Amino acid sequence: MKIWIKERFPIDYAKFIEITEKIFIKEPIPLHMKKWVLAMGTTPFILFPIQILTGILLAFYFIPSPEMAHESVRYITEEVRLGFWVRGFHHWGANLMIISIFLHMMRVFFTQSFRKPRELNWILGFTLLGLVMTISFTGYSLTYSQVSYWATTVGTNMMAEMPLIGNFLLELLRGGPDVTANTLTRFYTLHVWLLPLAITLLIVLHILILRLHGVSEPEGFKKGYYAFYPSHFHKIIIVTLFLLSFISLLSVALPPGIGEPADPLTTPLHIKPEWYFFPIFLFLKWVPLNIGLLIIGLAIMGIVFWPFLEPLLAKKEKHRTILNFIIGAVTIITLITFTLIQTYTH
Ligand code: HEM
Repeated sequence: MKIWIKERFPIDYAKFIEITEKIFIKEPIPLHMKKWVLAMGTTPFILFPIQILTGILLAFYFIPSPEMAHESVRYITEEVRLGFWVRGFHHWGANLMIISIFLHMMRVFFTQSFRKPRELNWILGFTLLGLVMTISFTGYSLTYSQVSYWATTVGTNMMAEMPLIGNFLLELLRGGPDVTANTLTRFYTLHVWLLPLAITLLIVLHILILRLHGVSEPEGFKKGYYAFYPSHFHKIIIVTLFLLSFISLLSVALPPGIGEPADPLTTPLHIKPEWYFFPIFLFLKWVPLNIGLLIIGLAIMGIVFWPFLEPLLAKKEKHRTILNFIIGAVTIITLITFTLIQTYTH
């Protein structure tokens, strides 16, 4: 058998195994990564394939048309065997993925691991966060419930306020001026293949750049290394099993509902997006839309280019660390406060 394969794929196997061992098995990992909170990036990495798998199962039954979308979600939830469980897995997996990406981003920020030479990986990572939030937004709209339909309408309406490209973007996404069957088809296409493909490619690139530089070794932690295999590998298996059990429990204890079917002629009294858009949603309620979007745009640019801005704003190492701490703490407190206010108001 070995010879048969060797004849068909004539490559240097000894070299192949040597490289694989060096990159994956014997790769030295800094000691601080033994604490999961400092190795949090692996969590979305584990969750993403679960999303793909449960998404494929849902796609077997979901029908992307305004007449059938909501009914097919109801059918999956109430009639397909274990359909509610698979749907719950997809729903809670998406939420945990967003939470874990935020936690990962916080750890990278507070350990100042975005600094030279990792600036590009910071930007790539932030793009990944944007794509994961977009895939969640498009997924939410697919259920075609009254709440999700109007959240899509309001969400895409906001895009029209963007200078120059606003209207073009709105019509591109909606497939016309209004939210119609075209919008559902486009959101479905984005959700099931374009965004998953883009996210997969970016994750591969993110990990590749990470491997080229090695994980950063921030100050204040014990120095030293341990091998990827078996210690870190076993940890990943244990975390995966924990995540699977936890998501399964959430899917059974708190299964996502189906809501009322969308009614394009009746605007509901209270429209709310998913919780991770609450801070932006609340902020835009408080300030005029175009000014709010401008401020959000500038804030996003600030985050994206922070690895380059930080050294310009503070020269001394001590000042840079204090600046990062203040910016990080203020951002987190603001995001949590805004989310809480929006949760308890209409
Ligand atoms: C789908 C989303 C993401 C995945 C799967 C992912 C995965 C990972 C993994 C596995 C690591 C190795 C270290 C660790 O586990 O902490 C890592 C490192 C890193 N990530 Fe992410 N990440 C994602 C999003 C982000 C975001 C949103 C940012 C920041 C805006 C970011 C910036 C970085 C940087 C700069 C490093 C290098 C850190 C170091 O060397 O200490 N990543 N990522």
